[in-house]
Amino acid sequence: CGIVGYNGKNSVTDLLLDSLELLEYRGYDSAGLATMNANTGKVKLRKCAGRVKDLRKICAKDKKISTCGIGHTRWATHGGVSDLNAHPHRVGDVLLVHNGIVENYEELKDHFMLHKDLKSQTDTEVVAAVLNRFYQGDPHEAIRKTVKYLKGTFALVIMFTDQPDVIYAIRNVSPIVAAYNDNGTMLASDVVALGATADKYMVVPEYVIMELHKDEIKLFDLNDKPVEADMIDIDWDTTRGGKGKYPFYMEKEIMEQPDALRATMQSRVVNGKIDLSADGVPDEILKDCERVCVVACGTAMHAGLVAKALVQSKLGMHMNVEYASEFMYSDPVIDEKTLVLAISQSGETIDTLEALKYARKKGAKSVAVINVKGSSIARESDYVMYTVAGPEIAVASTKAYTTQLMALFLLVGRMAKVRGIFDDATEKAYLDSLTKAPDKMQEVLDQKHDIHKIAREMLDAKDAFMIGRGLDYSILLEGALKLKEISYIHTEAYASGELKHGTIALITENTPVVATVTQSKLKEKELSNIREVQSRGASVVVFVKEDFDLADAEYADVFELPAMEDEFMVFPASAALQLLAYYVSMDKGLDVDKPRNLAKVVTVE
Ligand code: G6P
Repeated sequence: CGIVGYNGKNSVTDLLLDSLELLEYRGYDSAGLATMNANTGKVKLRKCAGRVKDLRKICAKDKKISTCGIGHTRWATHGGVSDLNAHPHRVGDVLLVHNGIVENYEELKDHFMLHKDLKSQTDTEVVAAVLNRFYQGDPHEAIRKTVKYLKGTFALVIMFTDQPDVIYAIRNVSPIVAAYNDNGTMLASDVVALGATADKYMVVPEYVIMELHKDEIKLFDLNDKPVEADMIDIDWDTTRGGKGKYPFYMEKEIMEQPDALRATMQSRVVNGKIDLSADGVPDEILKDCERVCVVACGTAMHAGLVAKALVQSKLGMHMNVEYASEFMYSDPVIDEKTLVLAISQSGETIDTLEALKYARKKGAKSVAVINVKGSSIARESDYVMYTVAGPEIAVASTKAYTTQLMALFLLVGRMAKVRGIFDDATEKAYLDSLTKAPDKMQEVLDQKHDIHKIAREMLDAKDAFMIGRGLDYSILLEGALKLKEISYIHTEAYASGELKHGTIALITENTPVVATVTQSKLKEKELSNIREVQSRGASVVVFVKEDFDLADAEYADVFELPAMEDEFMVFPASAALQLLAYYVSMDKGLDVDKPRNLAKVVTVE
């Protein structure tokens, strides 16, 4: 969910709506805002199931000016998508928006006998009711008493109707950032929403009560002692540029990849050598570790799979890649000789954060690969390598993924050097190839219209399969996720060799199968797996490294990927698969940037 709050000189409604639109990628089931007139204390609450644009229509009827308000864009967890379940929730004197999950809300309902106070099915309204129960004119006291009862994660942003000039907030795990300028103060769940108002922001510490006044932000610990928070530079252009000439952020972000890859590489190659000293990653942890383990979710986890192939082939080391949500429940073998890599675009994914905390408790050293500066995972990790993708707005991740790959290639390259596996010449050859990755990717992007043609053939598909071996399989897992999440075509990636053990039963006349063939040592075996599905009627599209000979079989389509050394083929191949998914979704007339049921930042377990 996305949360905003503003208190200042300016009229608040449009400002909150604009900020909510910037946060919509965090959830877009429902939206709402509550504004308060600073003089009269009169509150206006508007909310609806639907998008921020629907809320905007409701708000357009209201011409009254307020300068203090809170807003929310929802990704439903407890309670279906309805006007009633949308935030803010009001109980008595309390207006509340919430991000996170309060796990013990049913117990709280019983404990405080709240049933008759509640209209919605949400955990949030229960918290509002508890706050209201404890509120007797002292906001700090009510907040303090309430949070003691809460189990789970929360970012709570509160207005009390008899405190017209202040917004209150408190959080546990779920993020809240805040900023100020000459016109007022603002909070949000993500710095993206603050960028247009300020050039510095703070991450509100956990279990600290924040007061947002018109001209200052005050922080207090739970004993009411004032607290200070560091201000961090906002060095992103946030989304001021909008979609530019593109119909969707996803296309813009796909096209930005060559620059993002160069930017991610730039500060880490010094005098022709990989140098992670600017990241502060000490060589000792790269040299001394005996095991490497990735914890990540979704696309970031797929980046980890590519790193695994590299770590095993270049370093001869064993590596685990785990879904962060499964990690700590699988009794992972972790000790002080383990290097944990936490990979996350947002740096806020709660499963990844919790997995990282667990690994550190077991003594592991950690490096996080993160796109958002100052985010929770970045702060939790021993060391951070920031990807330089810039803000990624489309829910389906593209440039964050490939910049994660770049960061991981650099990390593995440095590990190989400090472990004495690379000499200067091998390091140079490795870096020469890596340096070419952005250009090779650009070559694919320049042929986007050819991939668009391939996509047009897939619009009516109900199911699709993606098959490959080795690194091809890893990147197809990501390619399949991309296609299914934005086109709603049920797509699965399979290791080609596994097909005959079950999945091939699903191949019938014209079933679309996408294959990538980029790995020399696996090419022949892959081609024979392709023949197996073709002989069962599949319609096969092949993305093939350009200098491979495909023999004389007939394919539905063939797209030649610019050639690189095998392990670097992930860059051009990923661009091709992203474009394929993008065009299928666009041509189906779908909302490419906001696929149904999804959110970009998932701060619930
Ligand atoms: C969500 C997003 C995915 C993303 C995953 C992990 O599900 O929709 O695109 O890969 O979370 O996010 P993270 O921010 O940790 O990379």
